[in-house]
Amino acid sequence: MAKLLDIIHYPHPILRKKSQEINMEELKSGKLQQLLLDMEKTMKEKDGAGLAAPQIGKNIRLVVINHNNKTLFLINPKITKKSWAKEIEEEGCLSVVNKKGEIIFAPVKRHKKINCIYFDAKGKKKTLTAEKMLSKTIQHEIDHLNGVLFIDYLENLPTGIEPEGNH
Ligand code: CO
Repeated sequence: MAKLLDIIHYPHPILRKKSQEINMEELKSGKLQQLLLDMEKTMKEKDGAGLAAPQIGKNIRLVVINHNNKTLFLINPKITKKSWAKEIEEEGCLSVVNKKGEIIFAPVKRHKKINCIYFDAKGKKKTLTAEKMLSKTIQHEIDHLNGVLFIDYLENLPTGIEPEGNH
C-alpha cells in the first residue's frame, strides 16, 4: 500500500542539490516502484500538480505529475526543445511555504511549449510535447532535479520567505 511521505521545505539543502540519474535496472526494483506509488499518493493528498524526489528528501531523478487526473511518472526526464515564446503564470510549490505553513504563489515566466524525453515507470522510453499547465509543471519539476526553485526566477522573494543564508 502506498504511504504518505514527508515533504521537506525551503531552505533545506537537499532542495539545492543536483539529483542523480536513475539506473534502469534499479527502476525495476520493488523499492523504487514503491517510492513512485508513495510519491503519487503524497502528491494527490497534498493536492500538488507535481512532485519531484528531492521534495521527499531523495536526490534522484524521479518526478510524478498529475495530468488530467492521471499520474505521469517521469524517470530521468530531459527537455529536448523549448519554444521561444514564454508566458507568465502563477506558481506555487509544496516545498515553499511561509511560517504558517501556507503555500506561497508568485508569477513565473516560462517556455510556453516544450518537448521532453523520459522513461516511464516500466523503464520504457517516451517522448512528450507539452503546453499550458503541463509544460509549466514539467519545467518546474525538472528544475527541482537540478536544485532550482521557482522563487529563483523572482526579482524579490515573496513575503514570508527569507533568504537562505538567514536561517
Ligand atoms: Co515545486
